[in-house]
Amino acid sequence: MNFKKRSHSCGQLSEKNIGETITLNGWVHVRRDLGSLIFIDLRDRWGITQLVAEPDVNEKVAEKANELRQEYCIWASGTVRQREKPNLDMPTGQIEIVIEDLGIINRSELPPFEISGDKNISEELKLKYRYLDLRRPKMQDYMAVRNKLSQITHRYFEQNDFLEIETPVLMKSTPEGARDFLVPSRLNKGKFYALPQSPQIFKQILMMSGFERYMQIVKCFRDEDLRSDRQPEFTQIDVEMSFVNQDDILAMTEGFISQVWSEILDYKTPETFTRLTYHEAMERFGSDKPDQRFDWELQNLNEIVSESNFKVFQDVLNLEGSVVALNAKDCARYSRKQIDNLTEFAKKYGAKGLAWIKWTSDGEVKSPIAKFLSESELENIKLKVNAENGDLVLISSDTWTRSHTILGALRLEIAKNEGIFDTIKGDYHFLWIVDFPMFEADPESGQSHAMHHPFTAPHGGDLERFMQDDKDIRSVSHDLVINGAEVAGGSMRIHQSDTQRQMFSALGMSEEDARDKFGFLLEALKYGTPPHGGIAFGLDRLVMILCGTDNIRDVIAFPKTTSGTSLMDESPGNVDVEQLKELGLMPLPEKQ
Ligand code: AMO
Ligand code: AMP
Repeated sequence: MNFKKRSHSCGQLSEKNIGETITLNGWVHVRRDLGSLIFIDLRDRWGITQLVAEPDVNEKVAEKANELRQEYCIWASGTVRQREKPNLDMPTGQIEIVIEDLGIINRSELPPFEISGDKNISEELKLKYRYLDLRRPKMQDYMAVRNKLSQITHRYFEQNDFLEIETPVLMKSTPEGARDFLVPSRLNKGKFYALPQSPQIFKQILMMSGFERYMQIVKCFRDEDLRSDRQPEFTQIDVEMSFVNQDDILAMTEGFISQVWSEILDYKTPETFTRLTYHEAMERFGSDKPDQRFDWELQNLNEIVSESNFKVFQDVLNLEGSVVALNAKDCARYSRKQIDNLTEFAKKYGAKGLAWIKWTSDGEVKSPIAKFLSESELENIKLKVNAENGDLVLISSDTWTRSHTILGALRLEIAKNEGIFDTIKGDYHFLWIVDFPMFEADPESGQSHAMHHPFTAPHGGDLERFMQDDKDIRSVSHDLVINGAEVAGGSMRIHQSDTQRQMFSALGMSEEDARDKFGFLLEALKYGTPPHGGIAFGLDRLVMILCGTDNIRDVIAFPKTTSGTSLMDESPGNVDVEQLKELGLMPLPEKQ
């Protein structure tokens, strides 16, 4: 062996060890040469310890220390002593090691970025050299939180008598709303497996098989447009229970989240989490994942403006739409340009325009629509939205969904611009959204989709209407929202074959289609299926919140870019024509 093995880690030594002779292994984090003293910050997974070489005292060691450069992998032995100038920001900041012997295990080329800093490094560069990026203490901390979450998950569900059961990765497509990743079958040419978007059907089948309580930490794959909180392959904590109702699932989940927050953040969650129906969340916050750490509720103005002369309002009210307002506190100071920018922002959410009323600091009304409103209408709006002088009120007039969605998005955008999120860091808000609509219509084709998935049970109160082909019904579904992020989603499931059949039919599937795609599920439902339901957490999203980062790539060791590539190993890659032929696939003809 060409190195001396460590006696301690770089995060371990303190004043208690003063006088001891020790050996450390690790990487050169920073080297500072002061001439009379050479300091080396040595880093391993557990921390950083300062080494010091003194040319006057030990010339040989100093020569060796002079050779060291960033990221050299070394060993060093020496004596622990009290630091002259302690560094209180470092756990090992009271001590340093006077080097007595030192060896280079492996040299390093100059890294493309500093491991010791995080300044102005492009994400592309970090992803290309991910092995170096992962050396950074922040990234190591994130991976440690991720590991801790997995351990707590296994322990919590084991204590509650769940079994972890693996489900297939090569399977038939499950509809979770995204595109499938397909895998061609060599043995069955022309046929394809789909990678699971989630193990939804398998976990339900496991309930039919009598396992009662299932969990799995499982990779899921979705070929969809990527964002800062979405990856094509991500991890779920997947849970399913039999002989339960929705309250049981929510209570089990609250217990889990409470344990996670307590162990990782030393934070006490509320006994039970607030519940809002989808309808209420949309009406009050314009979102099905509202951030309730700040107030700013939307208000409906339909009644107040029902007699107004503004055609935009009248047209919408005649079509049973909604005139909705948001009070942007203290924003009357916004310039015309700033308000125009908000209007442009609203247009991304389908707004045709954005009306506004300012109450200036001396009580004057400024608004392009003031001329259409009477004194009392203006006063009633002011009262309804609780506006004071200095506030800016934004008004959207559109369909119920669009008006609320537009103002919900503006609520977040303005809060972000106003720095409100900086003031609520470290605060957590846990919220259940329940009773989602069962269906949503594709805006282009008008075709109905299941809002959660087609195995979700209709709400008891709406079941009769559903069986008579009514699609305007609620489902027994639940999303867990933490600080405005959807971290989990689930539902009670259909456990009767006639209801499941009706669901497929409501989604426009012929009986033949349904049999072809889900025949095995319809068959299994015939053999005494228990009532069951469950939930799945986005593990990556939980880690994001626990670590306080808004980039999902920070919490996955080897993530993909937003265009679905891995810059380190350059996947996806080309394959040989021979490989394609073997799978019964033909390469596309080259473009002329
Ligand atoms: P759902 O589709 O809501 O439900 O997914 C559950 C949770 O998984 C996370 N998630 C993602 N995380 C990262 N990248 C993605 N592309 C991504 N997509 C989803 C979210 C989400 O809340 N089978 C059902 C669960 C059930 O009904 O029990 C399901 O998959 O945090
Ligand atoms: P106009 O009379 O068309 O110039 O519109 C007067 C104001 O109403 C402008 O500030 C528009 O942005 C706003 N406006 C137009 N359409 C809508 C709408 N659908 N909802 C809210 N405000 C609108």
